[in-house]
This record gives sequence, C-alpha cells and structure tokens, in this order.
Amino acid sequence: MTDDTFAIIPRPLDVTVGRSGATGGLLMDGLVISYVPELVQEARWFRQVLEAGTGWLIHLAPYESAHDAAIELSLGPLTELSSHVARGPQNVTPDAAYRLTSSEGRVVITSPGPVGAFYALQTLRQLLPDLTFRKAGRSEPIRLPDLVIVDAPRFPWRGVLLDVARHFMPKSFVLELIDLLALHKCNVLHLHLTDDQGWRIAIEGYPRLTEVGAWRRESPASGATDARPGRSPQGGFYTRQDLEEIVAYAAERHVRVLPEIDMPGHMLAAIGAYPALGNTDEHLSVDTTWGVSSHVLNLEDDTLRFCTDVLDEVVRIFPGPYVHVGGDECPTSEWKTHPRAQEIMREEGYDDEGQLQGWFSLRMGEHLAQRHRRLVGWDDLLERGAPSNAILMAWQDEARGVAAVSAGHDVVMVPQEWLYFDRPASAGPDEPVGFPGVTTLEKVYLHDPMPDAVPDAQRHHVLGAQCQLWTEYVATPRQAEYQYFPRLCAFAEIAWTVESPEQPKSYQEFVGRLGRHLGRLTAMDVNFRTLEGPDPA
Ligand code: ACM
Repeated sequence: MTDDTFAIIPRPLDVTVGRSGATGGLLMDGLVISYVPELVQEARWFRQVLEAGTGWLIHLAPYESAHDAAIELSLGPLTELSSHVARGPQNVTPDAAYRLTSSEGRVVITSPGPVGAFYALQTLRQLLPDLTFRKAGRSEPIRLPDLVIVDAPRFPWRGVLLDVARHFMPKSFVLELIDLLALHKCNVLHLHLTDDQGWRIAIEGYPRLTEVGAWRRESPASGATDARPGRSPQGGFYTRQDLEEIVAYAAERHVRVLPEIDMPGHMLAAIGAYPALGNTDEHLSVDTTWGVSSHVLNLEDDTLRFCTDVLDEVVRIFPGPYVHVGGDECPTSEWKTHPRAQEIMREEGYDDEGQLQGWFSLRMGEHLAQRHRRLVGWDDLLERGAPSNAILMAWQDEARGVAAVSAGHDVVMVPQEWLYFDRPASAGPDEPVGFPGVTTLEKVYLHDPMPDAVPDAQRHHVLGAQCQLWTEYVATPRQAEYQYFPRLCAFAEIAWTVESPEQPKSYQEFVGRLGRHLGRLTAMDVNFRTLEGPDPA
C-alpha cells in the first residue's frame, strides 16, 4: 500500500493512489449505479445501504442505457491479478477478485464474478465517512480519492462459528452478524445448532426436539465456571421459515450458512426429547450444566433413521454443498454395554468402541452424498473414521490440520489456541469469564492459518480458516459482539489478505487502521472491546 490514509479492513492486495493525477469519484444525491444483469443483486444491496446511510435517492440503470453513472458495475477478467497472486502460498478464488477504480468523477468496478463486485462495494463503503454506516443519516456529496484497488482473497473459506446451542441467539442478531461478516469479507457462517444443552432447529415430524429439547430448566449462574445452577429457564429455536430467511439474507451478502448437527455425542437435548435415542433407561433431560455429557446416541437402526431424517430436513433448508455433522468429543462408555453397539463390534470385527463412531460417520457421509452434500466434521474423526472426501475442521491444534491434510482431506484451520473467541482477550481481571487461555487481538493477527508443515503441493487442501464463538459464558448478543470484536477484524485480515514483501505483516500498522475502522463499528452500534481494554459495563 502506498498510502496509509485508507483504513480498509481486511487490507486489500494492492492500492495505488493518485496514479492519474486526476480527481477521484464523486458520489451525491441522485447518483446512478449502472450494472450488467448478473450484478443486479449487488447493485440493489449497495443502493439500500447507501440510501440509508446518506439519505440520498439512488437510481439503478442497466449498463447499456446509463451514460452518466457515478458507479459502474461490470464483469470481466482481471489480467493484472496473476502477477499479484503469484506471490504467496494462497488458495485464491478468482471470482472473488475485483478492481475498483475511482477517477474523474466515477467509480468503475470490474470483477470476474458477482461475489467480487460485492466485495468491491464493501471496500467502497469503507472509503466513505463513518456516518454512512448508520441506518439513517444525511450526507453532503462525497469526493473520493483518485485510486485503483486490485484485490483478491487468500483463502476461499473465511468462516465464523456461532454457537446458538449453549445460548440461543435471536434471529435479529444472526442477521446483524451476517452483515458484519460481509463487511469483513467473511463468507461462511457456521451455526452450531444442537448440543447437550439445547436443540435449536425445528424438524418436521419430531416436534419434541423443540418442545422439549430447546429448553433447559436452568443454567449455571452467569459468570460461574462451575456447575451451580443459578438462572431461570433458558432456550429458544428457529423455525424452518426463520432459517430460510437467514439463508436468503446470507446469500444476498455472499455468505453461505453451514448448519451443524453435532452427533453422535453432544446429543443430550435430543435424547431428553426422545429417550429411545439413548443407551439407558435413566430419565434424562436437556443438560443444565456445561461440559460434555457421557450420554450419546445409541446405534439402533431407528436412531440412524432419526439422524438421516434430521439431515434430510437440514438439506431441504440449507442449499449449500456442505453439512457439518460434528463428531467431536464423543464418549464411548455407554457403547461398551449396549447390545446393538456390541453386535456391530462383532459384525465388523472392531476391537475399540471408538471405531463405532467411524462406522456412524461413514453412514452419515453416504447419506449426505446421495443428497449431493459433502460431510464436514471436527478433527476427532481423523482417527475414529471419516468419509474420504470429508472436510475436517482442525480445532485441537495445528498438527491435527497437518495430519488431516496428509490423510488426503480438505481442511479448515480453526485451532483453539488462536481462533476460539470464547477465551478472554487478555489476562486482566476485568475480562468477562471465559474458557481457560488467553487469545489477544495481537495473537490472532500474528497467527498464520497455513501451517508451515503443510508441503507446497498440498496447500490447496487448506481451504481456509474460521474463528469460533462457543457461548457457555456468552448469554446475549451484546456479550457475543464483545467477544467477537475486534478480534474478528484481525481474523478477517489473516483469512483474506495476501502478504507480500511490499506489504509485510505489521501489528502496529494493523492497529492504526483498526482504530479508524472502529469508527465504522461504532456507527453500526457494535459492542466491541476497546483497544484499551474492557469497559466497566
Ligand atoms: C470443539 O471445540 N469441541 C469442537
């Protein structure tokens, strides 16, 4: 970057300022956005946010008919990109690239695909005053700098996990979070929809999942790390219509929603609703304490049918190519004495109950494959058994990702040490209660999602990275925003920005930009942690 006056996050690949010596683009009330037909959705989205933030009236006009457009959106190859992307170990998706030229009163955007045009418009927003990030306002004409930005992402998978199982998060917050992902050019929202402590997705034919499984009598006291029950009933769920709205809202913003149904462990909410799914006659209910329940699904045919029925409903709601079936932390003690589990052990010649989890995941993978979906699972499947085309999320540590790549899997790097935002952002006494460990903003920024140990020839298997927010200690959207921001800004940058010798990574430079970016988050009313530390509230 030749100029540090633009606080664009994530940092673009290349910014050239003042090249033509002319004035830049000029935006004002009554402006026209011209677009080729393939970009109508992007043009409409931008009109909506810009009209809200400026109070202007903005016109959309098909490309051929517009002669005086202040913003022009068109499709086309970016020939200059190959020289930029030859620079590093990235995994570039060409469709998401764009060129944005602001010169002589106009902004001209060119991209190989609609997603690139959308990211160009997100960058353009960041060239406008903070006030335009508000939901209503009035603005004078805005003179942009004379510049050319060429940009493309480093990784195709730039994800954010929200755990809505431990604490249900209202749909309004999920939609707001999608806007924040899109602002930061993240493109996957992973919803952890089910766990021991709650079931959050309505499933046709299984009403008790939400009548019973979505509610728990009580929860550990707010802020308590132990299991003392202290709070009133807790819960909630999304209807099919809610989820379809979330999916559509995300799609308009080039975010794919990845649904997760965590099984065969982390399933106590479902077992509480339908005891026949479990391994014991004991009366079980939705877990009121944190931690991993030892109660897991049994492996009866009816239980497998339940699982595939749930996946079929998931596939009906979520059009994306991937379905996450969890598979982390599955205790096997109950299978040691359950007749059906032991029968499968004998039939298959297994000597370890852990192999039963592989048996289960292969069946889920086959079922999803028949529905043209690919299974995603946690890295625990690596030794328990995963379908060969499964995408694994390396959460335990980086080495798990390296091992999954060597086993031939595509991998998303989500290592807890750097990318679990339920950990406190500092070691200070004023941070909200979180999981053990500390993940500072600097630690996130300095992390490289591509493990050094992955050989060059296998780097394309690292699809990208994802940050996680588990919500045992996060009960409200405001608390969730605090845990995400501004660490999510640093995450977005490590997932998007291609490093280069001309633009080496510098925490100081990042924090300078971030300080200005926080003005945008303030205008959007995001409850971020300030750079100085926790606010007393
Ligand atoms: C996990 O943190 N158990 C995926």
